[in-house]
Amino acid sequence: MEGALVQRLCSKNIRSLLNLTRNIPSLHCCSRIRVERTLFTRNTTLLTRTLLQSQRIEIRGAASQKKGKNNLAWAGALALTGVCGIVFYVIDSLEQKKKVATIKSHVGSTGRVDIGGKPWTLVDHNGVERTEKDFSGQWVLMYFGFTHCPDVCPEELEKMVQVVDSFNERKDVPNIQPLFITIDPARDTKEVIKKYCQEFSPTLLGLTGTEEQLEDIRKGFRIFFSTGPVDENGDYLIDHTIICYLTRPDGSFADYYPKRVDRKEMIKLIEIQMKRYEKSLENKKA
Ligand code: NI
Repeated sequence: MEGALVQRLCSKNIRSLLNLTRNIPSLHCCSRIRVERTLFTRNTTLLTRTLLQSQRIEIRGAASQKKGKNNLAWAGALALTGVCGIVFYVIDSLEQKKKVATIKSHVGSTGRVDIGGKPWTLVDHNGVERTEKDFSGQWVLMYFGFTHCPDVCPEELEKMVQVVDSFNERKDVPNIQPLFITIDPARDTKEVIKKYCQEFSPTLLGLTGTEEQLEDIRKGFRIFFSTGPVDENGDYLIDHTIICYLTRPDGSFADYYPKRVDRKEMIKLIEIQMKRYEKSLENKKA
């Protein structure tokens, strides 16, 4: 009986594990791995618990005669753990391969896009007028969002700030200046942006401006947004492009990083851009 139980649980769990992971390709890369890992743990724990329970019932009944069968149950549990482990390992390594492929295709596909590179004028969160010239000679990461954004903007800014910190702590790579540009100037005043940016990092500089000034820079970086309905408290959400843009010290656009690119990938991709730039400067000199 237990043999059949083990068999049923084995096939059921592996099937459900496979079905579940098949259903989540739309999830963000790193959260998907996390989900798979949780599912794997949850499935094996569930199975082990069921087996332990069935074994206890068996022991209470006719204990010693069933010893062989109990051993069978344990062997089944162990085998399943092994199989689940292999399944998880395969999924994990496929995921890694896909990530490497993403990095390769990403690097290959940028550099020819007509983004940024146009003059702009905005006001920073200290009230100082800023143009693109103020950042010449620096690598810049910029993100367009709004301070009332409940989750995506904070997550993306946190990621961007972590990437910037990892570069600014190192001596073998150039520093990066992070910028936050609001798409919601009506609510995001200088004061609001200043407080918001400082919650992330003292190096994060917030920028705002008139509707026309913001429209200029948004057009340049192809930022799209659409404001949702206003609720009874006057609150509203804004759907918007979720991308971090990297510009080179000469002000030209270097690369972009959508939400799916995680912190580690972003660091690798930026390093590649920095090396390319360095090489192009050396070639110019020669
Ligand atoms: Ni947002």
